[in-house]
Amino acid sequence: MTPSNTRNEQNTPNPPASVVASPTLSATEITTPRLRLRKAHDADRAGFIELQTDPQVRLHLGGPRPVAAVEQYFDTMGVAHVTDKPGTFVIADRTTDDLVGTLLIHRRPAALPGHVTEEGGELELTYVLRRPAWGTGLAFEAATAALRAAASELPDQPVLIVTQTANTRSLDLAARLGFRRVSTFEAYEAEQALAVADLHSFLAG
Ligand SMILES: CC(C)(COP(=O)(O)OP(=O)(O)OC[C@H]1O[C@@H](n2cnc3c(N)ncnc32)[C@H](O)[C@@H]1OP(=O)(O)O)[C@@H](O)C(=O)NCCC(=O)NCCS
Repeated sequence: MTPSNTRNEQNTPNPPASVVASPTLSATEITTPRLRLRKAHDADRAGFIELQTDPQVRLHLGGPRPVAAVEQYFDTMGVAHVTDKPGTFVIADRTTDDLVGTLLIHRRPAALPGHVTEEGGELELTYVLRRPAWGTGLAFEAATAALRAAASELPDQPVLIVTQTANTRSLDLAARLGFRRVSTFEAYEAEQALAVADLHSFLAG
């Protein structure tokens, strides 16, 4: 999602057939007490640009991108393009509809390192919040709702989170969500942690 080609965001122009055939969640809107997970629209442009260019947000994601390059990307591709794939959401404030961050549940390409099955293509959760929204529980709220929606649609299976071991906020969030850290590996010139949870552990009780 968003302009890609950074060290922690991989393009997969030709994913294996097994991955193409494996669904992610089909929901296009999910609401929580404070948030609405929805598809992107033009008013999200400034928020997306901030996410891509903020040094703190991008600290463990390959670093900030040049503003001009991000502007050019949106000029060329438009904003709605960012969330056109299933399982890809803007996290928006439920009252103001302002972009708070983004969340993605997709299939982790088998060609990347970091898997718990031999064939790869497991579900993977990623999340990014604008800096002012950190420390308010919004990432947890968004992730819990998205995982619950996926669990209600899909058979039980592993879900992954892959994050730099230096990214303590992300690791703490993974642990709060109930993900277990199972291994580490080197990629993008940094140590990465692989954490896993069972999808159906997120079903509403
Ligand atoms: C990773 C990231 C999403 C975590 O955000 P976060 O705000 O720390 O995560 P949570 O939503 O779980 O919020 C937890 C914090 O909110 C606080 N909080 C406040 N109100 C809360 C509430 N109602 N419910 C839960 N937590 C609440 C918690 O005490 C905790 O604070 P602390 O971190 O100071 O101890 C964020 O740091 C980020 O966007 N980082 C940059 C992008 C990135 O690296 N993403 C990882 C790629 S996989």
